[in-house]
Amino acid sequence: MQSFEAFIAAHKPTAASFHPHYEEALYTMLEAGGKRFRPALLLAVVSAYNELLIDGAYHAAYAIELLHTYSLIHDDLPAMDDADLRRGHLTLHKRYDEVTAILVGDALNTYAFEVLSNAPFSDATRVKLIRSLSHNGGVGGMVLGQAIDCYFENQPLDIEQVKVLHINKTAKLIACALEMGAIVAGQKALERPIYDFGIKLGLLFQIQDDILDVTQSDEEAGKTTNNDEDKNSFVTLLGLEKAMDEANVLAAEVEDKLMSFDENLQRRLSPILSTYINRHR
Ligand code: IPE
Ligand code: IPE
Ligand code: MG
Ligand code: MG
Ligand code: MG
Repeated sequence: MQSFEAFIAAHKPTAASFHPHYEEALYTMLEAGGKRFRPALLLAVVSAYNELLIDGAYHAAYAIELLHTYSLIHDDLPAMDDADLRRGHLTLHKRYDEVTAILVGDALNTYAFEVLSNAPFSDATRVKLIRSLSHNGGVGGMVLGQAIDCYFENQPLDIEQVKVLHINKTAKLIACALEMGAIVAGQKALERPIYDFGIKLGLLFQIQDDILDVTQSDEEAGKTTNNDEDKNSFVTLLGLEKAMDEANVLAAEVEDKLMSFDENLQRRLSPILSTYINRHR
């Protein structure tokens, strides 16, 4: 992903002003990195069909990473999960202040759509990408999931409700990454099946994240862990062992479903999945 990192560096959100740290704060969490899981998925789909589209696809991959990064900055705020560490660094509200963290989140969220609007695609493709990212990252997706997550702290949901929560807060954006890849690649018939696959993968990703919250230290995770006691996480609901069993079943289903895609796509997605599919173990 070296050249994707170079792309990010070349397209920093910039806004020179007399504010002492606004511009630096905009870039801090982006630069801190992370797994870049969603961009990797998007780029894998595009490269399975047309390598020549990769440079353009970076715009879409960057947009989803920007929106995801904003979601993490807000997720860590005192009003939400109240976390001090993210991507191996102090969270923005700790390093600067809450106002800065809120506004940087707002800026990265909107910048994602500025980046998409400037992407080198047809107007129709740009609109489709904007629709997918705004829906899955917003009203009927990540934001809804975060609203349920925070509202129902200390109020146990049933397992089906927790799946709805996880699908919204995490899986829809992961499914969106894959769908955006299909949109960029012009593979219309793939959009629906790859999105459905992404929902399963995303649910697995969040269950694993719930497991890692209790099995990893802050240092290992690069973020505040042991932070889900009041949450409707798979571990708080089922216990660690049953959450592991659920993750194993889902991981097997994801691997199985991957086989339903054409060989090129399997070949591109496989290395990413094998890196992440067993990370709960
Ligand atoms: C963390 O996402 C939040 C979840 C949706 C589980 P990632 O685990 O992808 O975080 P980064 O991007 O690597 O920091
Ligand atoms: C966050 O879920 C999902 C987002 C939409 C950001 P978590 O609250 O479990 O994510 P971490 O564990 O803080 O990364
Ligand atoms: Mg949270
Ligand atoms: Mg959190
Ligand atoms: Mg978590």
